[in-house]
Amino acid sequence: MSSPASHPLRDGRTTTSPLVRALRGDRPETTPIWFMRQAGRSLPEYRELRVGTAMLDACLNPELASEITLQPVRRHGVDAAVFFSDIVIPLRLAGVPVEIVPGRGPVLEAPIRSASDILRLRPIDPDALDPIREGVARTVAELGSTPLIGFAGAPFTLASYLVEGGPSKDQLRARSLMVSDPQAWAQLLNWCADVSGAFLRAQVDAGASAVQLFDSWVGSLSRRDYQRRVAPHSKRTLSALRGLDVPIIHFGVGSGEVLDLMAGIGADAVGVDWRLPLDEASRRLDDRVVLQGNIDPAWLGAPWEKLEAHVLDVLERGKAAPAHVVNLGHGVPPETDPDVLTRIVRLVHEVGSVAPEP
Ligand code: CP3
Repeated sequence: MSSPASHPLRDGRTTTSPLVRALRGDRPETTPIWFMRQAGRSLPEYRELRVGTAMLDACLNPELASEITLQPVRRHGVDAAVFFSDIVIPLRLAGVPVEIVPGRGPVLEAPIRSASDILRLRPIDPDALDPIREGVARTVAELGSTPLIGFAGAPFTLASYLVEGGPSKDQLRARSLMVSDPQAWAQLLNWCADVSGAFLRAQVDAGASAVQLFDSWVGSLSRRDYQRRVAPHSKRTLSALRGLDVPIIHFGVGSGEVLDLMAGIGADAVGVDWRLPLDEASRRLDDRVVLQGNIDPAWLGAPWEKLEAHVLDVLERGKAAPAHVVNLGHGVPPETDPDVLTRIVRLVHEVGSVAPEP
């Protein structure tokens, strides 16, 4: 935090917010809730604003990024904003040609597949992060006591896009590089850790009150490979935040076999996908780690009574953990009816509270 006096975690604006309290292991009066991908295509006001602007250009326009970040907070009354950006923005800022193809995801002009490709990767020029700092600062100025979550992609998930050149099923090419050339792999993951770390740091310096590290595709790794060839690099990403005392959430899809290791890199909370009930996730963590999750996105289109029962079940199981931040098990699907999300927020705020200690 470059100017500690004016940071929301320092001047008290967000310190006692339900999100920050829960991430620090406390059980606030209302259980906090936000949604991964709450900003985006489920909102008509987002689709309207995005007309004529490419995804990554929108992320690098501070005014637009800030407005898009605020939209779901106004509409749903969620307990946090999440900065509108993308995990591949640090790649673009480091000069790697990358685009987001609608309906497909990040696509690279020239995938990184050899030791010599890796040697050509350059660090981010610190000035290139200015649009991120400006977008965050504008957003935080509007948010008041609602915390902004900054985020970045973890090295494995980023490297899987770099090596594959686009979305892939099992990250097979990336995992092949990992086993066939461990040295090149380590160099690539260190580079990813450094650009993601710089991206995270810029967001926290500019006013983010929490961060989430997304290792979305961690579920394709064996526990042993995760532990030896991935986790140390994720830890390196977080070293960019050393000394800042900002709460850290670590999320992955299909992470049930490595939850303890994901918590172990220095996360305050672990995000769980829909596959593992939260009481079981908590058991695997000796009931010692704050959990985030894990409403199944598949239930969002179900009749309200069924969805309501599912949300109540998630809340009940979340009681096993020291604290609980409600979220989906993965991002909001674009076809989601936004009114359903608002209704979930109301429900969680009504029933997700625990009576304060007398
Ligand atoms: O509201 C939020 O959650 C903040 C914004 C956000 C975006 N991407 C915006 C976005 C966040 C946190 C991300 C992270 C991200 N990006 C991840 C990790 C989270 C996850 O879903 O596991 C990953 C793997 C990416 C890479 C990526 N970017 C994918 C797979 C896609 C989807 C492609 C598609 O069109 O379906 C994107 C594009 C993207 N990122 C969109 C948004 C709102 C949709 C593009 C659009 O609106 O035109």
